[in-house]
Amino acid sequence: MKTMNELKKLAKEKVTKCRVCPVCNGLACRGEIPGVGGKGSGSTFVRNVEQLKKVKINLDVTCGAIVPDTSSELFGKKVSLPVYAAPIAGITNNFGAEISDDQYTCDILDGCIQAKTIGFTGDGKFLEMFTGPLSMIDQRDGQGICTMKPWVKQGIELRLEAVNRSNVLALATDIDSAGLPLLRNSEIPVETKSVEALRELKESLNVPLIVKGIMTVDSALRAKEAKADAIVVSNHGGRVLDETVSTIEVLEDIVKAVGDEMTVLVDGGFRSGYDIFKALALGADGVLIGRPVSLAAIGAGAEGVKDYFENLRKELADVMLMSGCASIKDITKDKITIVKD
Ligand SMILES: Cc1cc2nc3c(=O)[nH]c(=O)nc-3n(C[C@H](O)[C@H](O)[C@H](O)COP(=O)(O)O)c2cc1C
Repeated sequence: MKTMNELKKLAKEKVTKCRVCPVCNGLACRGEIPGVGGKGSGSTFVRNVEQLKKVKINLDVTCGAIVPDTSSELFGKKVSLPVYAAPIAGITNNFGAEISDDQYTCDILDGCIQAKTIGFTGDGKFLEMFTGPLSMIDQRDGQGICTMKPWVKQGIELRLEAVNRSNVLALATDIDSAGLPLLRNSEIPVETKSVEALRELKESLNVPLIVKGIMTVDSALRAKEAKADAIVVSNHGGRVLDETVSTIEVLEDIVKAVGDEMTVLVDGGFRSGYDIFKALALGADGVLIGRPVSLAAIGAGAEGVKDYFENLRKELADVMLMSGCASIKDITKDKITIVKD
């Protein structure tokens, strides 16, 4: 199995736009879009990573002999750890990597299956950018989640039939893409959404709906009112709005507001088993990871993705051992301390 450093080294040989920094923190690539950076000054991406440092883990080895079990589940599907590959589109354009979008999607889906977790796929200006990945999920017994842009009704209708014919685990919609200039100006554009529009989408689906791009308690409650099954607390890795707060800062309030009936996932700047633990302690049911998983796929294909998740799983298990958590359910707020600086 390749280590995280070996995976990075392999990726570095294959990308021209990402610097593959020792820690992927948004500093070197500020404002680089296309590229892998955050929008504008890049402050949102940087803050996602920075604020995680304010959450500290409480060392506690007095809970008896523990064999940590990192397994969890998402929509009834058992996973080896509650960490998933985030949807990432435009690999060539953003990373400067010579890998086709199809090959990338296959590597993400297969690597996640081998690691016993779940990969999300993306969407784009052209219909095939959604239906292609969807059929790849279908060919893999529905082991994947497709993500749809927040199109106006016509764009949704074009995609929904294929979703309902497939055996995909769930449909996500990244509503925070509503401001992306390329998509706003496309023939069938994207739009910001209302409760009614989200409810209509939910009612026309026969798989669970995940609303991705929730950063306030109010928007989380609107997604709940629309009967969404899950939300992703996300600012799109800092790519859609500069100067927002980080996802870890808003997570706990959102979890408390929506209650137990809704699955809450989070992403943005999570890089290690330590970071995953912090999100779970603040109430998340799972975490999505973007850029580093993409680099693992670019560097070493499906096997790289599998190794990435296995490294992460081992690190999470180690943190659980040292903090007195035998299972994911044991990772609660009392296992962390939030410091001021
Ligand atoms: C190059 C790039 C492309 C992305 N494309 C998509 C996309 O097509 N759909 C989507 O929902 N999110 C997209 N995202 C956002 C990710 O799904 C995720 O929210 C974010 O990358 C998480 O932050 P992290 O990369 O710091 O882990 C993209 C992010 C990057 C960096």
